[in-house]
Amino acid sequence: MKRALITGVTGQDGSYLAEYLVRNGYEVWGLVRGQSNPHRARVQRLVEELRFVEGDLLDQSSLVKAVDLVQPDEVYNLAAISYVPLSWQQAELTGEVTGLGVLRMLEAIRMVSGINGSGSAPRGQIRFYQASSSEMFGKVREVPQNEFTPFYPRSPYGAAKAYGHFITRNYRESYGLFAASGILFNHESPRRGREFVTRKISRAVARIRLGMQQELRLGNLDAVRDWGFAGDYVRAMHAILAQETPVDYVVGTGRTHSVRDAVRMAFAAVDLDWERYVVVDPALVRPAEVDLLCADAKNARTRLGWEPQVSFPELMRMMVEADLERTARERDASGPLADW
Ligand code: NAP
Ligand code: GDD
Repeated sequence: MKRALITGVTGQDGSYLAEYLVRNGYEVWGLVRGQSNPHRARVQRLVEELRFVEGDLLDQSSLVKAVDLVQPDEVYNLAAISYVPLSWQQAELTGEVTGLGVLRMLEAIRMVSGINGSGSAPRGQIRFYQASSSEMFGKVREVPQNEFTPFYPRSPYGAAKAYGHFITRNYRESYGLFAASGILFNHESPRRGREFVTRKISRAVARIRLGMQQELRLGNLDAVRDWGFAGDYVRAMHAILAQETPVDYVVGTGRTHSVRDAVRMAFAAVDLDWERYVVVDPALVRPAEVDLLCADAKNARTRLGWEPQVSFPELMRMMVEADLERTARERDASGPLADW
């Protein structure tokens, strides 16, 4: 039985990846922060199968202890400060967690694997996946973006991810670690945090439909993203570590929609006219925007055999339906359910 350690297991992707690995016969450990992390709702359904180990990407020794205790075959580093606007508010912390946190995980693996020298060191046994991001492409240099497209990050988050990406490559080349990154484009689900735009929209649409909210305030409606379903993307993470050699992959659908398209689809799903409810709020426009992201995922398709199964219109409908159901239950219970 293979053993996996997932950092960020309480997040959207961590919960889907944990389920996927459990279904595939893995013993799965999740790294959690704090004594009683309040965010375990997403992995509640796995509570029988999952094991938890405490640790924090800010605390090197906690990561060494976690890797030493678990002795994993595979480490998936999904933990990060992942909300782009927060990265301007807490730029230093974002650099520490989203950037240097990757180095700390790699160091933990190097130390526990007993790899000390450089260059000629034996190939480590622990395989490492880094959650890189299309946000690194930022002000894009070409369309669509592939594994060789230069980075031009537009946020402290994007800059921190670029560091994480390059330090992962550097540990692969310096120490022979099996370390690879997935450069994933935006992926969403009913478990998406409420602050991200698709979930902000689906939740607002449900609340407006049920008479619990009057308007939806948004920033830039013209931004274009390549959105997919998180459940599809965790299959790619696993496939990246299942290859014979460690290689970085771009993962996305190659299809684009604007925020305005997302709004239109979500309101149409409940037969409402979006223009009556959406208010553009300049305070929600970012200091530097990423205007357009579109994946060229040819390598993921041909070498990993990865294909997305859920289209963006299906995804928006899925999210609206989930929020309608959840919001109705909240209304009937006269209070919020444990959410994310
Ligand atoms: P998410 O829902 O925001 O989850 C982030 C996770 O990181 C949470 O489990 C959080 O734990 C954990 N975390 C934050 N700070 C930590 C720290 N100091 N030590 C340990 N854990 C910490 O993110 P996601 O959407 O699942 O994304 C997963 C990863 O993929 C992230 O690295 C993100 O940047 C990257 N990514 C995401 C997308 C996307 O579209 N979703 C695309 C490209 C890349 P708590 O519960 O303790 O807060
Ligand atoms: N969050 C949010 N809230 N975004 C808005 C809003 C709003 O009210 N109005 C417009 N937008 C626009 C943003 O300006 C951005 O262009 C787009 O919607 C998507 O924003 P988010 O959903 O917050 O995602 P993101 O693209 O910034 O970042 C996500 O994807 C990255 C991969 O490209 C995150 O998951 C990152 O962690 C991930 O790396």
